[in-house]
Amino acid sequence: RKPVDSPLYALLAAASDYYRAALKNHPQRNAAVNYLKERGVSGIIARDFALGFAPPGWDNLSKHLGGDSLQQQALIDAGLLVENVDSQRRYDRFRDRIIFPIHDSRGRIIGFGGRVLGDDKPKYLNSPETAVFHKGQELYGLYEARKYNRQLNEIIVVEGYMDVIALAQQGLRNAVATLGTATSEEHIKRLFRVVPNILFCFDGDSAGRKAAWRALEATLSNLKDGQQARFLFVPDGEDPDSLIRSEGLEAFQARIAQQAVALTEYFFTHLSAEVNLDSLEGKAHLATLAAPLVERIPGANLRALMRQKLTHITGLSSAPSADNTTAPAANL
Ligand code: UTP
Ligand code: MN
Ligand code: MN
Ligand code: MN
Ligand code: MN
Repeated sequence: RKPVDSPLYALLAAASDYYRAALKNHPQRNAAVNYLKERGVSGIIARDFALGFAPPGWDNLSKHLGGDSLQQQALIDAGLLVENVDSQRRYDRFRDRIIFPIHDSRGRIIGFGGRVLGDDKPKYLNSPETAVFHKGQELYGLYEARKYNRQLNEIIVVEGYMDVIALAQQGLRNAVATLGTATSEEHIKRLFRVVPNILFCFDGDSAGRKAAWRALEATLSNLKDGQQARFLFVPDGEDPDSLIRSEGLEAFQARIAQQAVALTEYFFTHLSAEVNLDSLEGKAHLATLAAPLVERIPGANLRALMRQKLTHITGLSSAPSADNTTAPAANL
């Protein structure tokens, strides 16, 4: 899936070294340092996540890593240098941004995220797809979480870089981020390979709630008996970063203990809200929506219990086959 040895790894590592050194020494680092301070990021966390700074300017990194046209092409392949097709001008992709290196499970840097220091757009810039970086498969922070603790019991899945950083800052060193992409089955398989429990905690907005249901769907098909997924829905307008910073670690942990809902509970509440369970039509509709999803669960015991629960809600004595229950297309 991924080249075992690619020249890009060394280049990405050298770039990360440059960004980290710039956060420490560059004459223009103050704005970046202040930005991180204002967001509550300590030197320890900055070190543990290898945070860096891409200074303002079009060619800092390309000058630093320099080289002939072969090297330049390698920088383009690594996603560090952008080539304008029309003008053929080349310039650094990451400029005047806080840099978040993204590691693979072996600890190799495969890409970067970069955040503007202010309100410019785009807020985050990410490495493009390269030979070694596939955004849809990676989980930001997984390497760091496992490096910190090899015996993790649960991983918290959040949306953003700063959610991972803020949770770590407060002592929750077990968060990973999907980097703005939908949670995929690949993500879930990866997580269940290292922990039996997943806690999803997305932003308190409509995108976050959509992301939660997508995550449920990706999880269902991979949920074996003995594994568990839960969801913590944060208040509107908050995300894990803003919430844990405003209420502190203890309140956040109490929130998890009291308000996190099991995947199975979220499943039935969410689908039940879409139908009118007072009518047979509504119950039939619920069965139509739920049964195919229940049948995807690989855990035989959980699947059986979910069928039972569906029977209890709808009164249908056995899960009907999807073929017979699907409504005909409207234009027949
Ligand atoms: P959010 O919009 O929730 O941003 O996007 P955030 O992480 O809370 O950002 P802060 O707190 O203002 O720093 C969640 C994630 O989606 C991806 C990033 O991975 C981000 O962390 N994203 C977002 C991008 O890739 N590009 C963007 O322009 C915005
Ligand atoms: Mn590949
Ligand atoms: Mn958001
Ligand atoms: Mn945020
Ligand atoms: Mn957010």
